[in-house]
Amino acid sequence: MEIFACILILYWGFFASTVVNGGSLTSYASVSASPTLDVTKFGAIGDGKADDTKAFVATWKAACNNRTSNAKITVPQGKAYLVNQTGFWGPCKSTSITFEILGTIVAPLKSAWTSKASDCWLCFYRVNSLNVVGNEVGVIDGQGDDCIAINGGTSNVNITQVACGPGHGISVGSLGHNGAHDEVQGILVNKCCFNGTRNGARIKTWQGGSGFARNISFSDITLIAADNPIIIDQFYCNGRESAVQVSDVTYTGIQGTTVCKKATINFSCSDTVPCTNITLNNINITSAAPNSPLHSRCINAQVTAHLTEPPVNCQAHIQALKGEKNKHASK
Ligand SMILES: *[C@@H]1O[C@H](CO)[C@@H](O)[C@H](O)[C@H]1NC(C)=O
Ligand SMILES: *[C@@H]1O[C@H](CO)[C@@H](O)[C@H](O)[C@H]1NC(C)=O
Ligand SMILES: *[C@@H]1O[C@H](CO)[C@@H](O)[C@H](O)[C@H]1NC(C)=O
Ligand SMILES: *[C@@H]1O[C@H](CO)[C@@H](O)[C@H](O)[C@H]1NC(C)=O
Ligand SMILES: *[C@@H]1O[C@H](CO)[C@@H](O)[C@H](O)[C@H]1NC(C)=O
Ligand SMILES: *[C@@H]1O[C@H](CO)[C@@H](O)[C@H](O)[C@H]1NC(C)=O
Ligand SMILES: *[C@@H]1O[C@H](CO)[C@@H](O)[C@H](O)[C@H]1NC(C)=O
Ligand SMILES: *[C@@H]1O[C@H](CO)[C@@H](O)[C@H](O)[C@H]1NC(C)=O
Repeated sequence: MEIFACILILYWGFFASTVVNGGSLTSYASVSASPTLDVTKFGAIGDGKADDTKAFVATWKAACNNRTSNAKITVPQGKAYLVNQTGFWGPCKSTSITFEILGTIVAPLKSAWTSKASDCWLCFYRVNSLNVVGNEVGVIDGQGDDCIAINGGTSNVNITQVACGPGHGISVGSLGHNGAHDEVQGILVNKCCFNGTRNGARIKTWQGGSGFARNISFSDITLIAADNPIIIDQFYCNGRESAVQVSDVTYTGIQGTTVCKKATINFSCSDTVPCTNITLNNINITSAAPNSPLHSRCINAQVTAHLTEPPVNCQAHIQALKGEKNKHASK
């Protein structure tokens, strides 16, 4: 059996190196060590002032274009890297990419952002198999929009021990912009901290789009005076259009404080394609201001909640919504 397996691997290695020049077989063929690509070797300065965007993009391209099982990008500790709004694009030739953030990544002031750019800052598109790994030290200092955004065509992403703030949190989306068909799945956001962010765990889609965002998990999240800690937002404009379907989302172990004046947990899902199989477990979010009660909102979402503070009552909202509709209908 073992001999057979061994021969099989040898055969695959031969096959991959001679016939197939890419694809999943290459992980068996790559005998060379997986490369570690340091952004400073690609010209990043890390003084918080010099524009390191090109260096980050060059590092990403080198990692993405390397036919290896795992290419690692490292952002060394003890420095601050100024990076503009940037898209990190796949599909990649490497089977997976690890993005290790030990230093601080800072965004330019929002006023310096180009208007034509999208609403996200470090945005991943069409990448399959990505690990974004921080530590206690590395921080993504947004000042503007989403700290990390997972966009269309991206799947199998683990974001672990990343600290975001100020700025935004970690977003899936925006998806379905201009009627786009977007698919995102297999996203795990674990042990992350949102400090003073305008959003925490966010999933946002545009009306009129199609596709899905599913199998997404946010766990072990610490919030420090974060706004909109938990939000699914499918309400960008009016109209009963199609939407990217959001399903199989779990939020587990999310605790800390919020400055949110609106709904702390806000599931605002599409009329046409409701959110399904949303689970909340062990959520304890309190107000950063003393004696301020918090509340939740839930529209068109099928939610199961255990030990959730503030509580969500999706059934009541669905009924309230039906009541609203009936009122409008009878007018
Ligand atoms: C991929 O990484 C390996 C190991 O570091 C390196 O030897 C090789 O030159 C890289 N290939 C490309 C195309 O950059
Ligand atoms: C980053 O943004 C600044 C300010 O808008 C701009 O001057 C610079 O050219 C941008 N750098 C890159 C690589 O796009
Ligand atoms: C992400 O973590 C899960 C569970 O720990 C693991 O099964 C999966 O392979 C990881 N994904 C990547 C891209 O490493
Ligand atoms: C959900 O995503 C995780 C992590 O990427 C993956 O290991 C798991 O197989 C996925 N589950 C389903 C049902 O797709
Ligand atoms: C949160 O951010 C504030 C202000 O930027 C900072 O003073 C504080 O140390 C941060 N807290 C943690 C736990 O990182
Ligand atoms: C609900 O979502 C969870 C997490 O993604 C998944 O494990 C479970 O199978 C889903 N349940 C149904 C009924 O689809
Ligand atoms: C929930 O989020 C939606 C979308 O951002 C927003 O329009 C709405 O005002 C929020 N609702 C509450 C009660 O916070
Ligand atoms: C929720 O967090 C608050 C503030 O940290 C704490 O006082 C409270 O006991 C926690 N509630 C639960 C149920 O753990």
